[in-house]
Amino acid sequence: MSRLTQSPAWAALARHHEAMRVIHMRDLFEQDPARAQSFSYLFNDILFDFSKNRITVETLARLFDLASECRLNEAIGRMFDGRPINATEHRPALHVALRNRSNRPILVDSRDVMPQVNAVLSRMRTFTEQVRGGDWKGHTGKTITDVVNIGIGGSDLGPAMAARALGPYVKTGMHLHFVSNVDATDLVETLAQLEPETTLFVVASKTFTTEETLTNAHSARDWLVARLGSEQAVARHFVAVSTNAEKVRAFGIDENHMFEFWDWVGGRYSLWSAIGLPLALGIGWDHFEAMLSGAHEMDEHFRTEPLDRNIPVLAGLIALWYANFFGFDSQAILPYDQHLEHLPAYLQQLYMESNGKRVTLAGDDVDYATCPVVWGAAGTNGQHSFYQLIHQGTQVIPADFLAAIESQHPLGKHHEILLANFFAQPEALMRGKTAEQVRAELATRGLSPEAIAALTPHRIFPGNRPTHSILYQRLDAKTLGTLLAFYEHRVFVQGALWNIDSFDQWGVELGKELARVVEADIACQGDISPHDSSTAQLIERFKARKPSSH
Ligand code: F6P
Repeated sequence: MSRLTQSPAWAALARHHEAMRVIHMRDLFEQDPARAQSFSYLFNDILFDFSKNRITVETLARLFDLASECRLNEAIGRMFDGRPINATEHRPALHVALRNRSNRPILVDSRDVMPQVNAVLSRMRTFTEQVRGGDWKGHTGKTITDVVNIGIGGSDLGPAMAARALGPYVKTGMHLHFVSNVDATDLVETLAQLEPETTLFVVASKTFTTEETLTNAHSARDWLVARLGSEQAVARHFVAVSTNAEKVRAFGIDENHMFEFWDWVGGRYSLWSAIGLPLALGIGWDHFEAMLSGAHEMDEHFRTEPLDRNIPVLAGLIALWYANFFGFDSQAILPYDQHLEHLPAYLQQLYMESNGKRVTLAGDDVDYATCPVVWGAAGTNGQHSFYQLIHQGTQVIPADFLAAIESQHPLGKHHEILLANFFAQPEALMRGKTAEQVRAELATRGLSPEAIAALTPHRIFPGNRPTHSILYQRLDAKTLGTLLAFYEHRVFVQGALWNIDSFDQWGVELGKELARVVEADIACQGDISPHDSSTAQLIERFKARKPSSH
């Protein structure tokens, strides 16, 4: 048994779960009229309402005991102090330094990283202002109107999600595009909308070795050179964001046009680094800095606030409570805010690449569940597809609901209707509908006793399904920064308690290795290398049937 499951606090939680398992939130709300206030937390103008969860004061006390036994405070301190918490790669995880607006020194190998962070931010600012102000011209002297980010995973999802989230702040006449998939459809259909003379490509790759990104970048470069008729054009139309200057040079991008970041920034935590450049080009420097400030404020809260008032700690502990004691293995992200439609995809990488691990830091198999499957979609669309399962399916799926008080596009009654659904769904999930209520309803509609008996089981809602409601004033850059930092730290809390490495991602390697072998098999004329019969059949069929033009 692991240290975690052997700990006294774990055993106490297991006993407490036996009692909580049968308690309905409906009763908890009825017994305590102040329940909402007791389990809600205001951070600037964001209300985090955690009251519709299967928790009591005792649950939280026991979870805090577990956090203390696991020395969560020390783990948080180690991250902010730049200790090598990414143990398998011997690196710190210092995304908090990227938005450290206080400039508090943060040391890596006894060297303060803040001067280099600030130097890159300052270069980003200058470049952003040049491009947006029209001083940076394309090869033929025209102003840039379109920015295409070429990157994948953490070098795509963050800026793509934030560009959509902050769409109302993007400069008029500036268009942001994101190409990530090596499926040529992504690039070809994006390029079809563009004029090479006014297009700037940002090639974003931490390693600058990612095959999808480099393939797309080379094809984009060929397109540009063919259209503008000169290799010289590359200098005015390509910039790079990377940690790997040598590979950037080898691609043909001048180092002066490279924006650096560092190996202590994880890909999925890199939005705050130069990976945010396309976003900054769209929304401008002031908004980009506001996003950093919003994140920094949440960082300071996470770093300094006692555990029992610490919002990401509370959310992380509640998630652990569900994953490990109730066995809930899925987490829905349901933004009632169209601008956050890409948030579920972004959080999928953040959660699942960080905490989708099966061994502890010491390499022992865990004997407890780790990361749930994270998924979701913008409300209210989800209500008309998958909410059926959330309300009445056999699984219980904790869900985060997010919404803005102020719409970016006030129009008629749209926002009131949207928010009515945002309030009603968590209420329905919590409260449910009992057999008595169903029977009474059907009786008032005049149904026969037989019809009532037949229909009742189908119309019962068990309720007791947990949700967080996160209600913010308006989705501006600062609020977005705060929300994203909240999620990063919540993921950190879970990983720290599970004693896993939340900052490596070895699980993505095997598929990449095998793809390289298959690529050679596809290219070769003769026999392919040994594979299982299924894989061999698929490769052979592709080779036999692919059009000769491919
Ligand atoms: O393959 C997974 C991954 O390494 C992610 O962690 C990362 O965000 C993505 O690939 C892209 O990597 P890079 O920025 O080095 O191109």
